[in-house]
Amino acid sequence: MRGEDDRYVSRKARALLPAIFLACLLPACHSGDSASAPADTNATGQPSHQVAGGNANRGKAAIQTLGCAACHTIPGIRATRGMVGPPLADFAGRVFIAGEVPNTTASLIQWIRNPQSIEPKTAMPNLGVTEGQARDIAAYLYTLR
Ligand code: HEC
Repeated sequence: MRGEDDRYVSRKARALLPAIFLACLLPACHSGDSASAPADTNATGQPSHQVAGGNANRGKAAIQTLGCAACHTIPGIRATRGMVGPPLADFAGRVFIAGEVPNTTASLIQWIRNPQSIEPKTAMPNLGVTEGQARDIAAYLYTLR
């Protein structure tokens, strides 16, 4: 199904262009001064993946309780053979979340709580995850490298 894959990729790529364009209108894009970088990036402009108040062990438990593994294969989570969503192995190294937004802590928390707010047509459901649970889950996912 190579043709379909290509269409999928180019749809995503097209969707990203405005985001990349807008990001480059932000002052941080033009300045080498790390003080003006978004709080979510480190001095080199890479996402820091620090999750304030997030606890990876609690996150692991929340992932089990919420049933994320029904759709995702997630290292360290029992009986995970989900094939509906992408595998979440090496998640800390991903550049984008769902091919839509840069993989920052804030966007990951937003994705976990309300995926439709990032990609309206995504098949991932809104599971009613709380802010605290999302922080813990993000902390766990960022241990996957
Ligand atoms: C009903 C199936 C389903 C469930 C349940 C589900 N997801 Fe997803 N998830 C998806 C799909 C499908 C995608 C791909 C979204 C896209 O690209 O539009 C996705 C994408 C993701 C991504 C982005 C992955 C990437 O490669 O960029 C993360 C992170 C994620 N899900 C985390 C979770 C977490 C955490 C839970 C539990 C709270 C969860 N998901 C529950 C279906 C699901």
